[in-house]
Amino acid sequence: FARYAPYIRAINKLKREKNAVILAHNYMTPEIYHGVADVVGDSLQLAIEATKVQADTIVQCGVHFMAETSKILNPAKTVLIPDVKAGCSLAESITAEGIAEMRAKYPGAPVVSYVNTTAEVKAASDICCTSSNAAQIVAEMDSDVVIMTPDQYLAQNVANEVPQKKVVWWEGSCIVHEQYTKDDINAFRALNSDTRIIAHPECPPDVVAVSDFSGSTSGIIDYVTREMPGSAMLVTECSMASNIADALPEVDFTGPCNMCPYMKKITLEKILWSLHTGTEAVEVDPQIAAKAKIAVERMIELSQ
Ligand code: 13P
Ligand code: SF4
Repeated sequence: FARYAPYIRAINKLKREKNAVILAHNYMTPEIYHGVADVVGDSLQLAIEATKVQADTIVQCGVHFMAETSKILNPAKTVLIPDVKAGCSLAESITAEGIAEMRAKYPGAPVVSYVNTTAEVKAASDICCTSSNAAQIVAEMDSDVVIMTPDQYLAQNVANEVPQKKVVWWEGSCIVHEQYTKDDINAFRALNSDTRIIAHPECPPDVVAVSDFSGSTSGIIDYVTREMPGSAMLVTECSMASNIADALPEVDFTGPCNMCPYMKKITLEKILWSLHTGTEAVEVDPQIAAKAKIAVERMIELSQ
């Protein structure tokens, strides 16, 4: 950690001078998560925290759709993303035309879009969801058929949890979680029978089915904190275990993990540069932002 100290000191000093806060996702590397973040959390927690920010500037340490969500909720504030190329395979998988296509195919069905989408897609949707509230939101829709976009696996996992609804989905997927297979998990379990296997709901449903628990990134942290000691395999992005390992010395984190190349674009150097130069400021067309805000705020309202 010592080699990061000069960056951490400089970022924290600049944050105070510029009246900025850093909102960081649970997948950020430990030096960001522990060294410079003011708030850490899953997508829902970061969106809720964005509504409470007093500072003039938000530096979003996460991927682009998260920064857009903060901007949609705070149109008058400056929202910076340290690397605009921090995308997301799910957000890239669908456009507003895709939403129109789904509406034409399933007339009258509400569209529940994952927050892992662009502002345009949110604006074309009825409501957003995250992995921590998707089942609850789908269950509350006033329709037997519910369209979920763009994550086919989250949608299929929700369909299993909410059997009273016919859930139909867009065929997007997360390049990190789609790599896990049921056979890999079963093979791991055969050799590690005492290990708790905990999967993010962006994993395919057969992976979730052979896991002990599934939840959002913060849901996973809560589960491990509540249920352990013991051995745990987090079937998700690699930084998750690294970020919580020190606080939970009685938990043995084991097993393979996958890196999100988009999340890993955010580094201390880029955060420092971003604060120093005010780049890249995220902008959302005000008309699109106003519509997208309705979908995000509806989600926050239903989640509280
Ligand atoms: P969470 O909302 O669970 O933090 O998930 C965000 C994400 O991008 C996971 O891949
Ligand atoms: Fe997108 Fe998957 Fe990376 Fe999350 S882990 S940001 S869903 S590509």
